Amino acid sequence: MDQLSNAVPARRDRFLIAKRVGAALLALGACVVVAAHGNVTPQAVDTTGLAPLGDDWRSVNPYSGNPTAIEIGSSGFNQNCARCHGLEAISGGIAPDLRRLDNECAGMKDKAARDACVKDNDDYMLTTVRHGRTRNGAVYMPPFEGTLSQEAMWAIKTYLESRREKPLPDAP
Ligand code: HEC
Repeated sequence: MDQLSNAVPARRDRFLIAKRVGAALLALGACVVVAAHGNVTPQAVDTTGLAPLGDDWRSVNPYSGNPTAIEIGSSGFNQNCARCHGLEAISGGIAPDLRRLDNECAGMKDKAARDACVKDNDDYMLTTVRHGRTRNGAVYMPPFEGTLSQEAMWAIKTYLESRREKPLPDAP
């Protein structure tokens, strides 16, 4: 657990630097990206083929390693997230590079600690996607709850797991 509690702030610190770049630059970057990629309006994602999850929000990805989820998540990501987080999750720098989301987990030798780390990030990601990010009145990231289903959000996480910069030793 020590490893976990040390690692998570380390990641946040790194993104804090990105956050300090400032809203003006961010807005400018977002305009350029939006102009380049078109799709501005968040779009619902067809999740036919995935087990329905019901109304209760899960805190752990139910689809990890599921090839259908990876495929659906890939298109869901490129429609809804890529304009800020980069096509195929390769960030151009205006928003965090989501291939790195589980990076600090990958370095953990203890499997239990690693699993706990990934679960923590599952919950962190879903909360971020549901509620978006607003600071000092500026919307850095829009909320997706109401647009994307829970199934679509977890499919996107599953896709991001397939794009990890540092693959996990025992990932499905
Ligand atoms: C309008 C641009 C924009 C869109 C669209 C967007 N994001 Fe973000 N996202 C950001 C920014 C900017 C941040 C950093 C927020 C901050 O600094 O507080 C962020 C942060 C995050 C984080 C937290 C990263 C971390 O390690 O702290 C996750 C996870 C995330 N976004 C996932 C997504 C997913 C998944 C989608 C698509 C469903 C998405 N975002 C769509 C701009 C966007």
